[in-house]
Amino acid sequence: MSIIADDNDFIQKETHGKNPVIKAESIEFDKNFENCIRPKSFDTYIGQSSLKETLKISIEAAKKRELPLDHLLFYGPPGLGKTTLAGVIAEQMGVDIKITSAPALERPRDIIGILMSLKGGEILFIDEIHRLNKVAEEILYPAMEDFFLDMTTGKSQTVKTLRVPLPKFTLIGATTKAGELSGPLRDRFGIIHRLEFYTEDELAQVITRTAGILNIEITQEGAHAIARRSRGTPRIANRLVKRVSDYALVKHDGKITGDIANKSLDILKIDAFGLDSTDRALLKLIIEKYDGGPVGIETIAAAIGEDVRTIEDVCEPYLLQAGLLQRTPRGRKVSPAAYRHLNYKNLPPEQQGLF
Ligand code: ADE
Repeated sequence: MSIIADDNDFIQKETHGKNPVIKAESIEFDKNFENCIRPKSFDTYIGQSSLKETLKISIEAAKKRELPLDHLLFYGPPGLGKTTLAGVIAEQMGVDIKITSAPALERPRDIIGILMSLKGGEILFIDEIHRLNKVAEEILYPAMEDFFLDMTTGKSQTVKTLRVPLPKFTLIGATTKAGELSGPLRDRFGIIHRLEFYTEDELAQVITRTAGILNIEITQEGAHAIARRSRGTPRIANRLVKRVSDYALVKHDGKITGDIANKSLDILKIDAFGLDSTDRALLKLIIEKYDGGPVGIETIAAAIGEDVRTIEDVCEPYLLQAGLLQRTPRGRKVSPAAYRHLNYKNLPPEQQGLF
């Protein structure tokens, strides 16, 4: 299995978060790092156990039928291993994978080019698939359903439609926003799965594995200390391993213990919940200026100087999952747990008594 990502069709993402160390979106500088620690098989891929079992069966069945796997859609917050899982599937199927992202498929020729370059059985991985434009979607429909492209030639009265057959392939789409996918596109995926946040134990295993690959000595306590502050997200855990390892090397003997990990994470201003300064600014704003909310996302974004998409895609999923933030039809509200976590003594009247 080889991973192919040609000149302009690799994953292109903007650097949303202000602190790339602890935000979960994928950014260019650590692509190589991620690739070198990425698990290549189900045995080394930690977590998502029920999803793995389902996928193993689908892969076995596809192999027995000698057919490509059904098109798959993975959704869930960034950094949980959607791309990694696609690579594992390709490895397991024994096929190549082409990796791209929706923003790189702006012009019809981008998507046509990549579809026509596919060989039988190959996997096409499209990240951020909810950002695909209408034209690209329309090109994809017949390609996904019946494996052909509808091409038009000529102009106005002389226009001709040409049906170009494609080899049978598997599309794996990934999105952080399943709700933004159009109905017709979503309906064309045979298998749809949500990736879940990782438990502390699972993250500690990811961290121990990564430390092993990077020749970093780490204790169980050290791995758990990092895991607890990694927001349920392996990409964050792996970045923190590097940062904490730097600290351990400069200030001590290089070994990551529980104490070293905690000291280093305190310096990075990552708190016991794994929140960074942006997350805390968001919660504090709602508490101090809006009595705990509700308040609209645009207002929050303007006040803390972040864009709406970063807040929705990067900050919020974990704050919601951790029970610190609530989404209501009238805007965002913080929970009593957020007051407690940030050491506020007084709850707004409507939330008193919820402790
Ligand atoms: N690195 C990132 N995600 C991982 C996972 N699920 N298992 C092992 N290592 C990982």
